[in-house]
Formats: sequence, structure tokens, C-alpha cells
Amino acid sequence: MKAVILAAGLGTRFKSEKPKVLHHILGKPMIWYVINAVRKGGIKDIAVVVGYKAEEVMETVGEEVNFYLQSNPKGGTAEAVLASIDFWRNEEDYLLVINGDSPLIKPETVKNMQRFLFMVEEYEKVKLGGVILTSFLSDPTGYGRVVKEEGTDRIVKIVEEKEASPEEKSIREVNGGVYMFYIPYLLEALFKIKPSEKTGELYLTDAVDYMVRKGYEIRSFQASEPTEILGVNTRWELSFAESIVKLKLIKYWAERGVTVHSPETVWIEPDVELEENVEIFPDVMLKGKTRIAKNTVIHKGSIIENSVIGENVNVYPFSYIKDSKVEKGAVVGPFSRIREQTVVGEKAEVGNFVEIKKSIISRGVKAKHLAYIGDAHVGKQVNISAGVVTANYDGKEKHKTFIGDNAFVGSNSLLIAPLSLGDFCYIAGGSVISKDIPSGALAIERSRLRILEGKGKKKLEK
Ligand code: UD1
Ligand code: CA
Repeated sequence: MKAVILAAGLGTRFKSEKPKVLHHILGKPMIWYVINAVRKGGIKDIAVVVGYKAEEVMETVGEEVNFYLQSNPKGGTAEAVLASIDFWRNEEDYLLVINGDSPLIKPETVKNMQRFLFMVEEYEKVKLGGVILTSFLSDPTGYGRVVKEEGTDRIVKIVEEKEASPEEKSIREVNGGVYMFYIPYLLEALFKIKPSEKTGELYLTDAVDYMVRKGYEIRSFQASEPTEILGVNTRWELSFAESIVKLKLIKYWAERGVTVHSPETVWIEPDVELEENVEIFPDVMLKGKTRIAKNTVIHKGSIIENSVIGENVNVYPFSYIKDSKVEKGAVVGPFSRIREQTVVGEKAEVGNFVEIKKSIISRGVKAKHLAYIGDAHVGKQVNISAGVVTANYDGKEKHKTFIGDNAFVGSNSLLIAPLSLGDFCYIAGGSVISKDIPSGALAIERSRLRILEGKGKKKLEK
């Protein structure tokens, strides 16, 4: 079976310059979820119909699908399907047609609908015109209403909200925008239906009416839950869809041995991977391709993006780790900032208001308060005291700092790069170090301390 995803519409109700299907849910464009559900539902041959800002949609979706252009993105959903006719017209099979704004569809549903068609053919010996995903909503406003033969799952027609009589509007069963149509019948129908007199659009749902009148049976297939068929037409529906996707993902991890406290406040994106016994506190965001190994705890308010966190790590509150690696047993935070291409080694401790960029922090290093380490290689067991700064930038270029194993860098030292400190170096607090220091040396750079007896009090009493 092939699939056509409709994504050409203007998305007027979104009030956005950006195509609706490119708006994000948990860091991924809405259409990514639809493509994913179709693929995981076992359908690999996919076409996406683009129209409004076609280039942008194609660029974001990438090359793994075929694209077809609907030249008039106001033409309606049937016109969108017709735009992709070269993709499917020669198949003697069913075609999955799915709205690009239905991100909550489950892969299992795509599979189950295929199974349903197979069963009907196998046991009832009936070739259906199609099967359509439907659901009963307490508020069906905005959706196409499904008119059925009473007491059966046979669909008579689908009436769009704008065309519906008050009586039809009271029907609570709605069209979920996921269809499997038998291609020869669909082809016939699409060439016969006429645009709506009210909107000028060619409705895909009018193909249903046509097929039924021709005697091609169309059945409804119940969604697993009403939210599955949510069509995202407004920003608020986007927020709603996102919170559902979010909680489902967290439930998935919970079932795999991850504890998440206050899940409604936690953000875990779809590409994140978590091992058993990870514990996540409120207001945490795990973004991009982050991986977290077992027994690690991420405390309140921390953000971790595209980073790999080892086993038994503690990330204390309000830390931000991006494009970096934290190895097992390390402690980060509270209030640490770990920037790109940093490795925090095993059992290292990075504390409050420490910023690290493009640096290797080796095993057992302690940098517990108020420091900036950039473009540096810090050896094993080094102590970086409060206020240490690597001056890595001279206004034009970035330079590197090497600190040997077991060195001690005292408080408020300024290390002017390029610079190399040997193993077991001792840098006295408050020093400005602008020359390499050999292994085992003590370096001190301070002006002489003067103590003028009584002078302070005098000054203050003036
Ligand atoms: C559509 C269905 C409605 C169903 C609902 C489910 C029709 C006529 N109506 O209504 O019965 O209950 O979905 O969510 O199909 N699109 C195009 N080209 C167009 C118009 C739309 O590609 O010319 C795309 C849109 O980008 C969108 C999808 O088709 O992804 C659905 O279009 P939309 O306008 O949102 O249809 P609804 O009014 O929600
Ligand atoms: Ca819609």
C-alpha cells in the first residue's frame, strides 16, 4: 500500500507565515509525527502533497518521501489527492490518504486498518470502496460528520460542518481524516465530484458519497481514543496535541523503569533515550538526541540538549548542558552551564556558576564555584578554585589552556591563554598567569600587601 499525506493547505486558522505542518510539537514538525506513524504502520512508499510554501515544507521533510505540488492550495482535499495522481493511479490496491495535520495517529491504527481491509476481503469476500477512521467526540464542531446506515458500520456520506444541516450537526461521530480507498474506485470518484458551492473547494469527503451511490461499500473504523483523530487547526489545538504527545512519551519511559516527577511539567523529546532507573524531577527539559544512562538523576529545572550523560550522574537543579558529554559518577550543578564539545570526566564535580566550553575536564576534577573554563584541557584530579578564569580570547583569536594532572589553581586566578601548566603545579590565589609553568612549580603573581595601621578608621570617620 502507498500513502499520500496532505500538506498543501494554507492553515489560515493558525495565523502564521510558516506552513502549519511545520509548526513544532516537542521539537519536531507536526508532519514528522504523521510520516512516522505511516512508516511504523508498515507503509514505506509515501508521497507528500505540498502547496503553500512548498519549498519550505520539502526542505524540512527531506528526501525520503516523494513530493507532489498542488498549484492551488485552496483547491480542497480532493484536489490535493488528485495532485499526486501519478504516484498512485496505476496501483490496483488501497491507498492511504491522511491529513498532514493529524499528528496523534498511532502506527497501530494504520496497521489495524490494513488488517481490517484484509479480513473483510478474506472472510466476507467483499471489496470495500474504503475504510475511514472515525471517532465520537463530545464536541464535534469543525469536523466532517459521519452519516451511517443505522446500526451498522457502513458509511452513507460525510458532511462537512459548513454544509451540514442542524440535524447533521448534531451527529457526534466525526471523520478523522485517515482513509484507505480502493484506487480504481477513488479515481472514478475524484473525476466525478464537483466543488462545494459554498467554498469552491473539492472535498475528498464528497468522494465517499459518490462511491456509496455507485455501490462501493465504505466502512468506519473506530479510533482507539477520541484524541487520536485530533486535527490541529489552531495554535491552541497545537498546544493540546503537544501535551498529549508529551504525556504519552513520558508514560512510555515510565513503563521502562524511568521515574518522572510531575510529568506535566517535564519535557522529553522523541529522540531522547533513557535507561532504567533514571529519575527526573519537575521542570526538566531533555532535548534532541540526549541519552541518559542508568541510575542518573536530573534535578529540577535542568535542561539537557544533544548530550550524553553517563551512569550514576547527578545533575543538580537549574543546570544547562548542551552538545556535551558527562561521564559516570560526575556531579554537575546546581546552576552549572556546560556548553558545546565539553567532556566532564568520571567523578568530576562542577558546581554553581561554573561555565565550561569546548573543554576536557578529566576524571576527578573539582571546579565547584564561579569559574569560566574555555578551550581547555584540564588534567586528572585538578582543583579549580572559585573565580578561576581562562582568558581564552584575545579579541581576535581563541587560544588553548593545558592544565596538568593534580594541579591546584587557587581562587581568582586568571590564566591567560595560550598557556600550559605542568602536573602538580600550584597557582597561588589571585595570580595572573601569562607564562607556562613547569611541573611541580608554585607560581604567585601578586602585588605586595601593605598594611597601614589606623588609616582605615580615619578614612571612614571623615
Ligand atoms: C478535514 C475533512 C473533515 C475531517 C477533518 C479531520 C475535508 C473536506 N474535510 O477537514 O471531514 O473531519 O479534516 O481533521 O477533507 N489540504 C491540502 N490542500 C487543500 C486543502 C487542505 O493539502 O486544498 C491539507 C491541509 O494542509 C491539511 C489537510 O489537508 O493538512 C486537511 O485540511 P483542513 O483544511 O485542515 O481540513 P479540515 O477542515 O480540518
Ligand atoms: Ca484540519
